[in-house]
Amino acid sequence: MSRYADFYRQSIDEPEAFWAEQARLIDWETPAAQVLDASKPPFTRWFVGGRTNLCHNAVDRHLAARGDQPALVFVSTETGVERNYSFRELHDEVQRTAASLIALGVGRGDRVLVYMPMIPEAAFAMLACARIGAIHCVVFGGFASGSLASRIEDATPKLIVSADAGSRGGKVLAYKPLLDEAIRLSAHKPDAVLLVDRGLAPMALTEGRDHLAAALLAQHRDAEVPCTWLESTEISYTIYTSGTTGRPKGVQRDTGGYAVALAASMKHIFDGRAGETYFSTSDIGWVVGHSYIVYGPLIAGMATIMYEGLPTRGLDRQPDGGIWWRLVEKYKVTVMFSAPTAVRVLKKQDPALLKKYDLSSLRALFLAGEPLDEPTGRWIADGLGVPIIDNYWQTESGWPILTVANGVEPMPSKFGSPGIPMYGYKVKILHEATGEELTGANEKGVVAIEGPTPPGFMQTVWRDDARFVDTYWKSVPGKLVYSTFDWGIRDEDGYYYILGRTDDVINVAGHRLGSREIEESISGHPNVAEVAVVGVADDLKGQVAMAFVVPKDGAALTDAAAALALEGEIMQRVAGDLGALARPARVRFVGALPKTRSGKLLRRAIQAVCERRDPGDLTTMDDPAALQQIRHLLA
Ligand code: PRX
Repeated sequence: MSRYADFYRQSIDEPEAFWAEQARLIDWETPAAQVLDASKPPFTRWFVGGRTNLCHNAVDRHLAARGDQPALVFVSTETGVERNYSFRELHDEVQRTAASLIALGVGRGDRVLVYMPMIPEAAFAMLACARIGAIHCVVFGGFASGSLASRIEDATPKLIVSADAGSRGGKVLAYKPLLDEAIRLSAHKPDAVLLVDRGLAPMALTEGRDHLAAALLAQHRDAEVPCTWLESTEISYTIYTSGTTGRPKGVQRDTGGYAVALAASMKHIFDGRAGETYFSTSDIGWVVGHSYIVYGPLIAGMATIMYEGLPTRGLDRQPDGGIWWRLVEKYKVTVMFSAPTAVRVLKKQDPALLKKYDLSSLRALFLAGEPLDEPTGRWIADGLGVPIIDNYWQTESGWPILTVANGVEPMPSKFGSPGIPMYGYKVKILHEATGEELTGANEKGVVAIEGPTPPGFMQTVWRDDARFVDTYWKSVPGKLVYSTFDWGIRDEDGYYYILGRTDDVINVAGHRLGSREIEESISGHPNVAEVAVVGVADDLKGQVAMAFVVPKDGAALTDAAAALALEGEIMQRVAGDLGALARPARVRFVGALPKTRSGKLLRRAIQAVCERRDPGDLTTMDDPAALQQIRHLLA
């Protein structure tokens, strides 16, 4: 048996021994009394009785050996700022922030919602929460007031940490007005708001509620706030993600299991070593940012680069398609993590840019979030001359489900496949309708995971165990098994291929959006009777959202100018409500939407027609003419 096969086998056959060994990669105040508690499936508890702290493992633990080495490197090509924080400086910053949170009444178990651009203060806030046992809920800074409001309402934060503005491609995006509007819309109101003023946009402060971070931090300059030791199973954070319904789900994660899972993945999957530099181009608003900008690299004792800006602009704010490679050279990055979309953007730049810098420090580039198409994979592999490692996972899992574990044993990758199941994951391909396991090569089914799920995996849906069980564990008939809601196949060598979502999730440039959320925003327009939103294949972004709308007043159906005007209004509405990311690429007007006889919207059929595929069996369809109309519209 190969080394990895052996390693994997042990993780499945003897999970307690396997994970007890991995648990030694982090510091514990009290070691676990019980490694695994799977007595109440599908709930899984890891390292029960153990006490630890994520911030201790990410920061304090490294002070003795590498206090003066870089921990966080901040580069903003939006503001032209480049700044290093050593582990010691990071420790100071996090304590100041923690003291400020405490001064504003935040304690263990309280929620702190973080709505921030990619600035170091966002990482300080996350680590400060972890330090004192507060639960952080980071909301992606690109989301607008509607999305933010629903998350505030669900998380019921005591405090919100935010900033005056973010910036993208030189365009300032004021956050404060969006935040004020979100708080106004939400039934829950936070006690306090802590605001970082970057000097990018004016802020109107609400007396008694809003506090400027600078003033508080100055009061707590020399603060010493020890880490609060938390139960391993205590909640570290929640992060919202989209699914089938319009209401986002708060994915809830523990403390000890997550710390161990990240430490293990840094060793076995990413092969990143203490003292080196890790560069992930994601955003703290997404799970990749939580796991592999903030916690993972720091737990491993690596410096992490936090990058604000486009991949095509330099620190002098002039066009520079080589900025990322410049950073790889300058900071001797050994491990890089990005998304296929970013590579497709870079592919349009001068290929000589890849040869201009000394990239010899780089050992691998990891790509995740959406399918990696072969031309893109080959282009970047040839350009960089290092392994390109596709990895498949989800907000729910917290770390890769499918990839190769080069830290255990170097293994070939196959283009188009993220790889094989990672240790701890019992991955199955199941028949969608019968739930039967498909064991043959290249049989298409739903990718599912059998419990107990490994450390780091979501504990439950925040405040909604029933939703966790019903949504994720009961979608395959007759079996209590976790559905990823992705289609997949496994080839004769055991490599998996992901073939798109089984639900209504749209993946725009690696960002996960729910069609229902976009539909709900569009439905709010007074001239919209009905709407269907589907994801349609796109060369650059992987998918884009496309909306089909039945207008209340028929003008948009017959008059091109009226249609254009309504399309503009709808796009603006979605951008204002959810954020520019969710704005449909196109809005088309139709007399009716294709539905089943029981009134269920046939999004998959619409999507197939948009992508010029066969929409499949339409015998249950109520009105085939509706689909015909869409076909004609697109012709
Ligand atoms: O559909 C799969 C796709 O992205 C979904 C998860 O998105 P999110 O929760 O935002 O987490 C991203 C973490 C990297 C999956 O259900 N997806 C993610 N990675 C891949 C992928 N599809 C194909 N190949 C991948 N490597």
